[in-house]
Amino acid sequence: MNIRTVSTSPFADQKPGTSGLRKSTAVFQQPNYLENFIQSIFESIKDCQGQTLVLGGDGRYYNRQATQIVLKMAAANKFGRIKVGHRGILSTPATSCIIRKYNALAGIILSASHNPGGFLGDFGVKYNVSNGGPAPEKVTQAIYAYSKTINYYKILDAPDIDLDTLGESRLGNTVVEVIDPVYDYEKLMETLFDFDCIHQLLTKSGFRMCFDALHAVTGPYAHSIFEHRLGASMGTVRNGTPLEDFGGGHPDPNLVYARDLVEILYGKDAPDFGAASDGDGDRNMILGRNFFVSPSDSLAVLAANAKLVYGYKSGLAGIARSVATSTAVDKVAAKLGIDCYETPTGWKFFSNLLDAGLVTLCGEESFSTGSNHIREKDGIWAVLFWLNILAVRQQSVEQIVQEYWQLYGRNYHLRYDYEGVDPERAATLMNKLQTSMASLKGKRFGPHEVIYCDDFSYTDPVDGSVSTHKGIRIIFDDESRIVFRLSGTATYAATIRIFLETYEPKVAKQNQQPQQALASLLAIANEIAQLSILTGMEKPTLII
Ligand code: G6P
Ligand code: ZN
Repeated sequence: MNIRTVSTSPFADQKPGTSGLRKSTAVFQQPNYLENFIQSIFESIKDCQGQTLVLGGDGRYYNRQATQIVLKMAAANKFGRIKVGHRGILSTPATSCIIRKYNALAGIILSASHNPGGFLGDFGVKYNVSNGGPAPEKVTQAIYAYSKTINYYKILDAPDIDLDTLGESRLGNTVVEVIDPVYDYEKLMETLFDFDCIHQLLTKSGFRMCFDALHAVTGPYAHSIFEHRLGASMGTVRNGTPLEDFGGGHPDPNLVYARDLVEILYGKDAPDFGAASDGDGDRNMILGRNFFVSPSDSLAVLAANAKLVYGYKSGLAGIARSVATSTAVDKVAAKLGIDCYETPTGWKFFSNLLDAGLVTLCGEESFSTGSNHIREKDGIWAVLFWLNILAVRQQSVEQIVQEYWQLYGRNYHLRYDYEGVDPERAATLMNKLQTSMASLKGKRFGPHEVIYCDDFSYTDPVDGSVSTHKGIRIIFDDESRIVFRLSGTATYAATIRIFLETYEPKVAKQNQQPQQALASLLAIANEIAQLSILTGMEKPTLII
């Protein structure tokens, strides 16, 4: 078979964001667009000869065609073996698991995560390195730099691989192995959780759960693990077949986009437990009967209860959360006498801490939780963690969270998104915030006084690398916080995110609506950033 060297010219916009390169599908389908980025990834690796690559995607539109292109390019770039998911399917956490288990050099995940798919939706490429985690910034910078000068890519002239049949075949000298996407991942979960105990909960105690895969990648994982292995009744998993357009939905597990699941959990005869995951399976939302667990609280509850769970029974080394995540888990870490690290947004910033053994659990406000079992956040893992705690404690989700609030206090936390903002307006808003920082310290806004304010920068404690401009933090004397940052995953215009947090130690005040508890902080955020004037928008497009 013939290796073809195809001449090409650069695209100016192949700068990876918070999580890989994410663009509209139409952008990705331009001639050479995907090929340029994939070749830039391979160039950053330098020597692919004989190495193993793990390849899969979330099943969205263009997944299959893109998989064939990457397979032929990986063969032309001399990978020795490619493990590719059956039908092109692999969740992000399963990819991380397989990279680590088989000592692969790299993984490529074809996904735009929680963004809608389809011809009119988004597509994306995520690149993971040999520890199973997202490529660190120095690697994504090298990929971007190469993409700006690229003049050729390599591809094998060969027929398509049959992705519908498990087993090995060849592409030139490269072995292509079509693998069961669930098998290795499920085996790993068995080592972390007490499956017998969860099986009992799901089969003998009258406990009912509902999992919504939102027509995205976790369907096969959820059917296999919850229904077949753990005995949950058939029908527990909703929308469990991955569809190219995610059934027209927005595969993001939150109160807005997983509306049907929310209605079930807040409806008549609601089950005891509900959960959902996103397009590529790394996010999670946790619900109890008539009860929503905020992502920041979920991280804190997992940390506080970790010793009840087999894989974590010897305790946690430390915990990490992103700057935008509430500080709830900091209190748990303090009680446990372990360190809590504050990182920039993006799972890649947890990798070094996990590799160095400094932390065991990590989480982000973006419905993301995970641990040192892999180097990605993990939706199904979070659901199993909750199920294991529920099975041991024999209490409801609400009781567990209420007890946690009573013990540690409640951190109300919400995110206000202004999506589709003109990028120049967004930059002006952030610049104005930068310049106003100096005058904020010591300023009083009603009951809240600013005690600290900065543009968050992070020095990685393991390799010393420094990341700057990661969000404007405003911290008040009563532990309230406001964080402003620009999203790094938006595929059109700019998205401004505002994170509000306030701490409530008094039990009597712990059952307010978050929007009510955070109303005065929202007014302060508006005053400081002149949100409506500078965005030109009356209100945010999304509150979660
Ligand atoms: C992805 C990343 C997360 C990040 C989230 C939001 O899911 O993997 O680490 O928290 O996007 O990123 P953004 O830059 O849009 O706020
Ligand atoms: Zn995702």
